[in-house]
Amino acid sequence: MSRKSVYVTRAIPEENIDELRKHFDVEVNLDDRALSKDELKQKLKGRHAAISLLTDTIDGEVLDTAGPQLRIVANYAVGFNNFDVAAATQRNVVLTNTPGVLDDATATHTMTLLLATARRIAESDKFVRDGKWQGWAPMFFVGLDVERKNLGIAGLGRIGKAVAKRARGFDMNIIYSDVKRDADFEQAVGATYVDKNTLIRESDFLTMHVPLTDETRHYIGAKELKAMKKTAVLINASRGPVVDEIALVQALKNGEIWGAGLDVFEDEPKLASGLIDLPNVVVVPHVASATPQTRIAMGEIAVNNIIKVLNGQVPDTCVNPGVLKSMAAQ
Ligand code: GLV
Ligand code: GLV
Repeated sequence: MSRKSVYVTRAIPEENIDELRKHFDVEVNLDDRALSKDELKQKLKGRHAAISLLTDTIDGEVLDTAGPQLRIVANYAVGFNNFDVAAATQRNVVLTNTPGVLDDATATHTMTLLLATARRIAESDKFVRDGKWQGWAPMFFVGLDVERKNLGIAGLGRIGKAVAKRARGFDMNIIYSDVKRDADFEQAVGATYVDKNTLIRESDFLTMHVPLTDETRHYIGAKELKAMKKTAVLINASRGPVVDEIALVQALKNGEIWGAGLDVFEDEPKLASGLIDLPNVVVVPHVASATPQTRIAMGEIAVNNIIKVLNGQVPDTCVNPGVLKSMAAQ
């Protein structure tokens, strides 16, 4: 029997590709750029499986062009707002993501952004590099205190919880809002459940850890920014559209909040006009999970899911489990 064909839309760690090659014919996009939609459609034609990135839109049109032999698209990411889940379910295509393995890296990066914003690291690093430093001064680059301040967590999932644990080490008071409460976690880590309005109003640092859905799009908009403390900092390492970026630029310009630390943007890699001119923001290019161990672990999940599904087994991290029921019935 001929080997099944797998396409990987951009280079991921070698060890992951080597593992795939043991089982399948594998082609990898080795151009160091994301594919256009037309290229993606052409490349997926006739494949049995694909590893996709958060920059690849996987919708009905792409799936139809790929053809009915396509069994699984494994996202190399935990977020999967690039998937049209209903379209894939309709076509019996299994979709998977990479939960769990990137919680530590993402939470550490979130704290990095929080601390870097509070202590003005990007701004003062640039100052030194620009040759402007004349010597020590008492009121130089005075930032914000972090200890004993309120950390608001929007979305207490795996990553939100990993952030809370780290923040405890900085003696922060943790408040959170979510669609559901986790009383055990509240007790174990010392966190207080609040409603969204209270979260917005009381947070000294507000960090976003909700998935991007129709309900969470612009979770933070002009109204929320106005309700925040003038001394507050907004951190976002989830998905850009969770924050109305144009409203954020206005709020920062008007001094409605103190600063922002951003790993993600509404229209990556573009930034909202004016954002880059503000000194009180730290901007990094969507790299919260970018550590060597995490990248390999993400690949292992995606590869294992593909091996399982192409061998008629149930994958570990399916995001459209309705498809598995019809697989079982076959
Ligand atoms: C990265 O943003 C991911 O969703 O894994
Ligand atoms: C600062 O460098 C201090 O010694 O207080």
